[in-house]
Amino acid sequence: MRILFVSSEAYPLIKTGGLADVSGSLPAAIRDLGMDIRILLPGYPAVLAKLQEKHLITQIHHLPEVGSINLLAGKMPDTGVDVMVIESAQLFDRPGGPYTDSHGNDWNDNALRFGILSKVAALLSSEDSPLRDWIPDVVHCNDWQSGLTPAFLHHSSARHATSIISIHNLAFQGNFSPDWVQRLGLPADSYQMNGVEYYGQMSFLKAGVYYADSITTVSPTYAQEIQTEQYGFGMQGLLAARGHEIRGILNGIEIQEWNPATDPYLAKTYNLEHLADKKIVKKALQVQLGLEAAPHKPLLGVVSRLTHQKGLDIFLEVAEKLLAKHCQIAVLGSGETQMENGFKELAKRHPRQVSVSIGYKEPLSHQIMAGADIFIMPSRFEPCGLNQMYGLRYGTPPIVTRTGGLADSVRDSNSSTMKNNTATGFVMESAEAQQLLSAVERALVYYHDPRAWRKIQRNGMRRDVSLANSAKLYLDLYKALARLP
Ligand code: ADP
Ligand code: GLC
Repeated sequence: MRILFVSSEAYPLIKTGGLADVSGSLPAAIRDLGMDIRILLPGYPAVLAKLQEKHLITQIHHLPEVGSINLLAGKMPDTGVDVMVIESAQLFDRPGGPYTDSHGNDWNDNALRFGILSKVAALLSSEDSPLRDWIPDVVHCNDWQSGLTPAFLHHSSARHATSIISIHNLAFQGNFSPDWVQRLGLPADSYQMNGVEYYGQMSFLKAGVYYADSITTVSPTYAQEIQTEQYGFGMQGLLAARGHEIRGILNGIEIQEWNPATDPYLAKTYNLEHLADKKIVKKALQVQLGLEAAPHKPLLGVVSRLTHQKGLDIFLEVAEKLLAKHCQIAVLGSGETQMENGFKELAKRHPRQVSVSIGYKEPLSHQIMAGADIFIMPSRFEPCGLNQMYGLRYGTPPIVTRTGGLADSVRDSNSSTMKNNTATGFVMESAEAQQLLSAVERALVYYHDPRAWRKIQRNGMRRDVSLANSAKLYLDLYKALARLP
């Protein structure tokens, strides 16, 4: 079976968040189950620079507003998974990030950039494809950036693949001026409620949700949540109408890349049997970050986008109280200026107790994950979340909110889960300061009881957070959907 996996980012070629982790690792796991899978990506400079065995396979002409693009093929650096890349100087050859310029402002031609990604994906998934010998059975779209693909397929007269849209985050919808309907070559009458129209705009994600043959999201709990007003970002009605079709498939993580026993970024590797060595990593981290090298002071770690979703403003609110309880704090992240400044000021007031690194730093993200005692993730909503799974794998019990994938991957520690060895972290009912404070207090009680703490750490480290399960579930879905000849 052939699968075209369309994404706007895939690690290690390009990454802004968890979508890249999943798009980098899931296709490899699906390939390992015997599928013929290719990833389609935009040709940002970083992608063109890192793609292995890069070569031109065809050109695609007559695309709206851009004319022609080159379609390149190559391989993912580590896994060797097949990749196809859209090369277009007009669309993708610029500095800055995949979606924003270096000041964080959205590129003003994002509708065109990802409209073309969606259009090329649709073309490659139909019998009109220039690649006569590789037409997929299933096209697997991810988030709004490829959300128009199912719409283009629906309005094409050619035979074509079955489509899936996976929602990684409903907060990002790709809503643009209705002009884009015609500018991107969709029929004018697709601009209606039963189509791509969404509250007076044309919406990429709405289009995907409306036209895709199948909808998935990245955890079972989020699959339910997005059908409610609280989490639906306005799309709950449409999602509830297709509710019985939405599958929630929990993400897994790349367990080679995220492995405390082999992680090259760590001062000392460790595993379940040699948990004591984790202390060496903690000390190295404290020294590196200029914190007091105190072995028994609980070190709270954060690696995150600093946005409203992640609830770290709540953490800031209670930080002084936690410092009064002799906690240390290590933050790595970037995002909203106000939150960045709040953390920077906290670090300035407490240089030996708080370290704040603003920016995107791959090595430090591993070092905090391993060196911290507790990982803090008080998200207001979290479709899946990967960091809490990294925390489990690194023996760094996470404190999370009971929402989305956090609810599906972390078990609260209490007398019964301690007894049956299922306790893996600490779960708060909602993202509120008081709850976070009491969750940390509860965690500290266990932390100061080394035997109990080791038990929680080991329970987490034993959890299967690999991609094997999710890959199997996607495979079942592909098989159910594919219109095999
Ligand atoms: P989201 O995709 O919503 O940001 P996830 O938990 O799914 O959240 O994934 C976030 C990914 O990005 C993780 O791999 C995390 O380690 C990484 N990450 C986030 N912020 C940074 C940062 N400042 N530096 C390095 N890695 C980061
Ligand atoms: C999104 C979500 C995050 C999820 C990731 C990968 O970025 O915010 O919760 O883990 O996608 O699916």
